Parts: sequence; structure tokens; C-alpha cells
Amino acid sequence: MSQFNDRTLTQQVLDSFANTSDPRLKTLISELVISLHEFVRKTNLTFEEWDFAIDFLTRTGQKCTATRQEFILLSDVLGVSILVDAVNHRSRDDATETTVLGPFYVGEHKPMPHGSDIAAGIPGEPMFVNARVTGRGEPLANVPVDVWHADDDGFYDCQRPAYETQGASLRARFITGPDGEFSFRTILPCSYPVPTDGPVGQLFAATNRHAMRPAHVHFLVNAPGFEPLVTHVFVEGDKYLKSDAVFGVKDELVARVKRHDDPIMPDGSSPSGPWHAMSYEFRLRPGTGHAPQPLMAAAME
Ligand code: BEZ
Ligand code: FE
Repeated sequence: MSQFNDRTLTQQVLDSFANTSDPRLKTLISELVISLHEFVRKTNLTFEEWDFAIDFLTRTGQKCTATRQEFILLSDVLGVSILVDAVNHRSRDDATETTVLGPFYVGEHKPMPHGSDIAAGIPGEPMFVNARVTGRGEPLANVPVDVWHADDDGFYDCQRPAYETQGASLRARFITGPDGEFSFRTILPCSYPVPTDGPVGQLFAATNRHAMRPAHVHFLVNAPGFEPLVTHVFVEGDKYLKSDAVFGVKDELVARVKRHDDPIMPDGSSPSGPWHAMSYEFRLRPGTGHAPQPLMAAAME
């Protein structure tokens, strides 16, 4: 057996990957080894700590199901998801900022007509959303836009047992009209905690961090000839805007949501109390790319 000290070992492990034919794989695995070894050396990691880490990651995997992705959540709360997003969107020009996809995107949504109520039967203060998609300064027609958000208890439809039988709510696809616009009715989103009943929740508790995300609506805009845009619109004034548990807030994504008291909403309905209006323009960046696929769907295949 070859002799090593804790420094020469790293080179020995790197050498063991010398015959990797895919150059990108070789870079990724080599840099991973270098970073992991550095971590172990810098922290003088104990056997107990390494055992704990392995058990933690094992439990993270075991918590995953077709509708629950604890590894995405771990990546989100460690800031890795938003960092991967940042290094892949270094220059935005005047395009809308991107943010994390999150674990509750379930893939292509069911198309609904403009003005539809995606919150039918769900309690909450009504909100009307009017949005526009542009690229190179021009409105973009015929563009699919997936939207989704949590209910007043902070749950996404796919977290509820009824999802299996009743299907989607607070989630839909809209296709932009000739003016690049689309609109829908929903409820005003509220801030909510990311799931804390698994290993990631244990991490929050052990580090005295809160698990809250500020109120937001998710949007995925995907037009040919443009980079897919994965983003949120956050509600101005939310108390968690400066301490999002997954580091996803960018100033430009915070929108003023206006409260109205007039008796008719833009869709012609008569709400029983105040309602809210959100409007936003999504500016796409010319380019290409694949819209993200939900890991949940991949797990079910
Ligand atoms: C979400 O906004 O849906 C979300 C994002 C990251 C982690 C958990 C939830
Ligand atoms: Fe969300």
C-alpha cells in the first residue's frame, strides 16, 4: 500500500481519475475531491462528525418521494441552488432577474384561459395578476408561462393528499396574447416556512435559523429564441424579504401589490372585501436553454 500524509493523499486520489475521458467530468470530480479534502483538513473532521454527515445525507435521501425533494431543499437552504443560478446568469443586461426553481414545480401545467381563477374554492384575499412578456423590447406572443404559489397555510397543492385525486390548484399555464400579456385571478400569497419535518428542518433547529420564505408567486417563462426564465415575483413589504430561507430575493423581483376596495375586480367578479393587484413585466434574454424539468417527475418515471 502506498504511503501518504494528509496532503499527498489528495494528489494520489486525483491521479486515480487520470484516465477519465470526459474532460468536464474530470474537472468536476477533481475539484470536488480538492474541496472535500480541504474541508476535512481545515476542520480536523472527527469520525463522529463524518458518521453524522453520512447519516444526515442518508436520511435526506430517504425523505425524498415522488412529491418531496429533500435534496433540492438542502441545496436551497445552503445557498447552493441560488449560487448555481448566479454563475449561470452572470450577465443579465436588462433581462429580468432569475431565482430558484424550488421543489414544488411539477412540470408543464394545464393551460387556462386569460383571467381564470386559479384559486377557485381556496380561502384567501383575492388578487388579480396582470403580466407581460417582452424580448428585445417587443411584446412576445404565444409564449407559455407556468405560474404556481402556496396557499394561505403555506402549502403547495402537491403537498396535500388531495392532489392525487383533485389535481392542480394555485398552479396553471397561460399563453401570452398578441400584446405579450396574460392575466389571472388568485389569492394574495403569504410568507410560509419551507418543509421542516425532515433532516433540513433539523439543520434549521440546530443552527437557530428560521425557515420562512417571503410571499411570492413563481413564474417559468419559456419562449423559443430566448433563455428560459425561472423567477418569482415577491410581495413588497413582506417581513422576510431580507432573510429568505433560500436566499432567493432580488430587489428587482419585489413588486408593489396594490390594495383595492372597489366592488368589481378586473375579471368582472364582485369580491366580498378588499382585493389586490399585482402587475409585472418579464423581460426575456435572447439565447437558448432548456426549461427545467421537475425532479419529482423524473423520480416517478
Ligand atoms: C418555494 O418557493 O417553493 C421553495 C423554494 C425553495 C425551497 C422550498 C420552497
Ligand atoms: Fe414558493
